[in-house]
Amino acid sequence: MELRVALGLALLCSALEAAPAGPQRPRSAVGQFWHVSDLHLDPTYHITPDRTKVCSSSKGVNASNPGPFGDFLCDSPYQLILSAFAFMNDSKEQVSFMIWTGDSPPHVPIKELSTKLVISIIGNLSSTIRNFFPDLQVFPALGNHDYWPQDQLPVTTSEVYNAVADFWKPWLSDEAISTFRKGGFYTQLFESSNSHQPLRIISLNTNLYYSPNKVTVNITDPANQFAWLEEILETSSQKQEKVYIIGHVPVGYLPYARNTTAIREYYNERLVKIFRKYSSVIAGQFFGHTHRDSIMVLLDEEEKPVNSLFVAPAVTPVKSVLQTESNNPGVRLYQYDLFDYSLLDLWQFYLDLRDANKKNESNWKLEYILTKTYGIEDLKPESLYEMVKQLSMPHSTLFEQYYSNYIVSYNKTILCEEGCKTCQICAIQYLDSSSYTDCINQEAMWR
Ligand SMILES: *[C@@H]1O[C@H](CO)[C@@H](O)[C@H](O)[C@H]1NC(C)=O
Ligand SMILES: *[C@@H]1O[C@H](CO)[C@@H](O)[C@H](O)[C@H]1NC(C)=O
Ligand SMILES: *[C@@H]1O[C@H](CO)[C@@H](O)[C@H](O)[C@H]1NC(C)=O
Ligand SMILES: *[C@@H]1O[C@H](CO)[C@@H](O)[C@H](O)[C@H]1NC(C)=O
Ligand SMILES: *[C@@H]1O[C@H](CO)[C@@H](O)[C@H](O)[C@H]1NC(C)=O
Ligand SMILES: *[C@@H]1O[C@H](CO)[C@@H](O)[C@H](O)[C@H]1NC(C)=O
Ligand SMILES: *[C@@H]1O[C@H](CO)[C@@H](O)[C@H](O)[C@H]1NC(C)=O
Ligand SMILES: [Zn+2]
Ligand SMILES: [Zn+2]
Repeated sequence: MELRVALGLALLCSALEAAPAGPQRPRSAVGQFWHVSDLHLDPTYHITPDRTKVCSSSKGVNASNPGPFGDFLCDSPYQLILSAFAFMNDSKEQVSFMIWTGDSPPHVPIKELSTKLVISIIGNLSSTIRNFFPDLQVFPALGNHDYWPQDQLPVTTSEVYNAVADFWKPWLSDEAISTFRKGGFYTQLFESSNSHQPLRIISLNTNLYYSPNKVTVNITDPANQFAWLEEILETSSQKQEKVYIIGHVPVGYLPYARNTTAIREYYNERLVKIFRKYSSVIAGQFFGHTHRDSIMVLLDEEEKPVNSLFVAPAVTPVKSVLQTESNNPGVRLYQYDLFDYSLLDLWQFYLDLRDANKKNESNWKLEYILTKTYGIEDLKPESLYEMVKQLSMPHSTLFEQYYSNYIVSYNKTILCEEGCKTCQICAIQYLDSSSYTDCINQEAMWR
């Protein structure tokens, strides 16, 4: 995300057919996949006595407590990224694929990067992932930092799209690669040996809709991605396929800001409309970008929950010097129903950065299991909606847990009350402007 913008908004807000589930379910009916996001490698990171020189991403500020696995004022050292993938590999979890939702380069001033450097960092992390998981299907998406200058992703083919297409060729079909070269998005079928129907992945370039992207100002349908998306979803619907949507910048409202969408409002309304229309085809949506762990439930016009959306926390622990909160590094594992690709659970893993640096040991561990922590059956829209009802209760201790998970156990004593809680609760359930506005305006009634 854009750390500067996030800070300003954060201040604003704090001032103010039934499937059987449960343990009896046979293990073989469950598939798993990894989700990693926002790696933000800072190749300049190194331990040195002058703390202003530890990493370029601290932008001249003293690093706070730098160690081998990083610092909360710096983007990821390569060692942190290696530790994340080593943990995933060593865990021996059987996964059928991995999704990787973008943002490889560090948060540094534009003049410290270049097209060449951005390409080389994306290439580095693509090779790193392939070295760890040579036989694993990976579905990547581009982030707003995966371009130079950052956020300005274009609506036609470009040097970056072409170079990245070459890095991602081993994972994607010729057709997907050819679509990707033109607009930075693609779709591909995932055929699994133990599943009765294929899964369609749609990797969106939501950076085209991101507010700071000047290239797309006043363009109704940048790179014709909306038309393309509707066409793919229409065909999927006719073929009775199931779809996972992946992307970097999430649809909906930012949980830490009042009345602010991550993408331009017009694009947000249009996406919500498409996702509502095709909600029976879409079995899950997965994003990154905010660096925090959050959920969203898409409701239809009758307030019926119809889609489950997930924002995965970052691997980078970076925050700006003025922010009070950050996130510990995180990676997550999803479990899905092999029959219909509905989502069953998620396991969030994290690295306690302070502890890892102190012990010089990367002890990645389980942070929480979603269904256990929130007492729900699975991750289907109805279940998530039940969870949100619990979180919205006044003085909900479950909400305190949710907020602690939101910042990946960064600091258990930080609370989110009043205006902060309003923003979180409204952003979880209301993705379009009319229902979100009603929620914000009614906060006094439910708090
Ligand atoms: C960094 O820390 C050193 C030593 O404590 C201090 O002298 C210096 O002023 C600090 N630099 C900045 C930019 O805060
Ligand atoms: C990636 O970059 C890191 C840090 O700059 C370097 O140590 C490593 O060798 C590179 N790896 C690959 C696969 O390019
Ligand atoms: C992944 O784990 C396997 C053992 O299960 C090991 O042989 C392999 O070297 C690991 N890969 C990397 C890149 O560390
Ligand atoms: C976008 O449209 C508005 C209203 O028509 C106009 O004022 C503005 O100059 C346009 N901006 C660009 C970058 O084309
Ligand atoms: C939210 O923002 C929109 C657009 O920026 C504005 O039109 C609307 O009045 C705002 N609503 C509230 C409740 O602040
Ligand atoms: C940290 O551990 C690595 C090996 O795991 C070792 O090479 C390094 O010297 C250790 N650093 C410190 C400061 O102890
Ligand atoms: C956690 O936050 C509290 C204030 O909410 C602060 O006093 C404390 O220093 C923080 N702890 C760490 C380890 O940053
Ligand atoms: Zn990011
Ligand atoms: Zn981002």
